[in-house]
Amino acid sequence: MPATAWPSAVEADLPRLIEIRRHLHAHPELAFEEFETSKLVQRELAGLGLEVRAGLAKGTGVVAVLRGTAPGASGKDARAVALRGDMDALPIHEETGLPYASTIPGKMHACGHDAHTTMLLGAARVLSRHRDRLQGSVVFCFQPAEEGGGGGRYLVDEGALDDPACAAAFALHGFPNLPVGHVAVKPGVAQAASDSLRIKVLGVGGHGAAPHKSVDPIVLSARVIEALQGVVSREVNPVDSAVVTVGAIHGGEAGNVIPPSVEMKGTIRSLDEAVRRQVHAAVKRTVELTCAAGGGKAEVLVHDGYPVLTNDPGASRFALETARELFGAPKVHELPVPSMGGEDFAYYLQKVPGAFIRVGVATREAYPGLHHPAYDFTDAALGVGVALFCRLAERFLAEGFGEAD
Ligand code: NI
Repeated sequence: MPATAWPSAVEADLPRLIEIRRHLHAHPELAFEEFETSKLVQRELAGLGLEVRAGLAKGTGVVAVLRGTAPGASGKDARAVALRGDMDALPIHEETGLPYASTIPGKMHACGHDAHTTMLLGAARVLSRHRDRLQGSVVFCFQPAEEGGGGGRYLVDEGALDDPACAAAFALHGFPNLPVGHVAVKPGVAQAASDSLRIKVLGVGGHGAAPHKSVDPIVLSARVIEALQGVVSREVNPVDSAVVTVGAIHGGEAGNVIPPSVEMKGTIRSLDEAVRRQVHAAVKRTVELTCAAGGGKAEVLVHDGYPVLTNDPGASRFALETARELFGAPKVHELPVPSMGGEDFAYYLQKVPGAFIRVGVATREAYPGLHHPAYDFTDAALGVGVALFCRLAERFLAEGFGEAD
């Protein structure tokens, strides 16, 4: 079988994979609650001849190892490669109207992790039939809690990449900005550090008709939000990138009462560690001093979330070449700019080189974006992802990232 035959080698599995994907889509589970999803994954892996470890990453994580049987596969120089799929859904009410739409109000697979899990299962099925082509081991990482819980960090800390020792890791993610059949990689810095922000503005409550006897935290909050707009626009070097968003604000109950405090929540994104620290400090100073100027106080908590995701240059080139080989150059794109989205595959890439690869899902113009209540991972893209996973593994185990540098 030539390398380019992988897309046809996965075709026989597609009807079953579509069934699995739609079942997962209809039964979404939130971060660290992927109990049924985890059971389904274990059921599907049973019988494939893999070494399966379950109960990882606070309970739902599953890691399965496939040992290749090609000559050299069990030698001491044999490589191992990790492939990752995330399993969790989002607290969003689905509005797709699809026959397999979420059956659980307020929960949906709006980021396509139903499909990421399915593509990884597909790769396990197909590669287990072709283990004679694998000159090493493939480690399938079914990970909980990508959406904020940092499930990837748990899996990595629990040794998912250690036994066998993985020399590379790859993950796929649906990409609504590209048509089905297309693939893209952003070499280098690809996804932002994603940190959470909590602010409590402390004033002095009182009668709405007597503001002079109060310190109005609502007015202070308005100034704080306005002042925060200057952090990125006036303090960060214009050639660097950062985002400060206040996404939630809660304060007050009645129109004629000045409340004692207001709480806000936000997110801070950056693509560089120095900029990240600069923005954190500037946000803290801006909030505290703006509140102090009005006679109030502030509590500011910035919590480090996912680190910057950096695609290894060699792994990126390898992934792009591999995709071109399978799907043809016109369908494979090197993305020029990173995303300000966060992604906990960053933890894997802090440990081993690899690449986070985008798989097109758009079937029309203005396809709904990730986390949109109308987002759905397109079934026709499943085969693309499975074939790509298979060939990435086969080729990496045989050649590594290749010589060119
Ligand atoms: Ni996602």
